[in-house]
Amino acid sequence: MQYSSLFLAALSATGTLAAPMGTAIAAGNHSIQVLLQNQATESGAGISFTEGALPQQLSPSQFGPFETLLLTLGADVNPQTLRCKAIDDLGNPIVGLRGENVDITFGDGGNGAWTFRKPTIVSSVICDPTFVKTDKSENNVRVQLSGPGELATQTEFTGAASETKPPVGSNGPYDTIELDVGILVEDQGIRCKVLDNNGKEIIAVRGANTDTTFSDAGKGAWAFQKASEVSQIICDPAFVAAPL
Ligand SMILES: *[C@@H]1O[C@H](CO)[C@@H](O)[C@H](O)[C@H]1NC(C)=O
Repeated sequence: MQYSSLFLAALSATGTLAAPMGTAIAAGNHSIQVLLQNQATESGAGISFTEGALPQQLSPSQFGPFETLLLTLGADVNPQTLRCKAIDDLGNPIVGLRGENVDITFGDGGNGAWTFRKPTIVSSVICDPTFVKTDKSENNVRVQLSGPGELATQTEFTGAASETKPPVGSNGPYDTIELDVGILVEDQGIRCKVLDNNGKEIIAVRGANTDTTFSDAGKGAWAFQKASEVSQIICDPAFVAAPL
């Protein structure tokens, strides 16, 4: 792998280890380095975090877009389980993949770099000893249907492609639908629709919106115009809002 001299200069400019005055850290290697890289554009930025100053949020010397994040901890950093998040230009945490793992918090563990789903602007990186691995279920879209009575059911989708499933358990009748899009799901704006027993799209209302496709957006449940049995739920990244 070859890097431009600009890239190497960016690394060496930030590659110093500094402990703030007055913090007592035992001798040894307390280096906490985050390296952001984009091989396609041969660009990169290194950020040094200070163990005694954690949690710490720092901006890279340039914002990318970057493809990978590598966290490297010195042998004496406490805790060795320290994890960091990268924040994009909209303030959202960036999802990274490493082997079987999908997460918004990135550890070292000697397992190499995390790869973003696509080249992404990084506005800042936060390293925080309280960050933990994110539960795998956050990589799912949960669709909750609730009835006029006690009846409720939850059906899970990956959110990564168009998927059609009958509601888990019972076809209802139901009169609300609520989406819970996990933080690791690639398409945070994914929408789902529901079909009645005749294969007809059910119309629902949330606030000022009436539609046949429904989003999460942190705004709660959509109410069916009238209670209906549900034969199928379809979630599709291609669905867009089409207000009626
Ligand atoms: C400290 O540890 C880091 C990460 O393992 C390593 O890259 C660096 O060379 C070490 N520094 C010293 C002074 O040994």
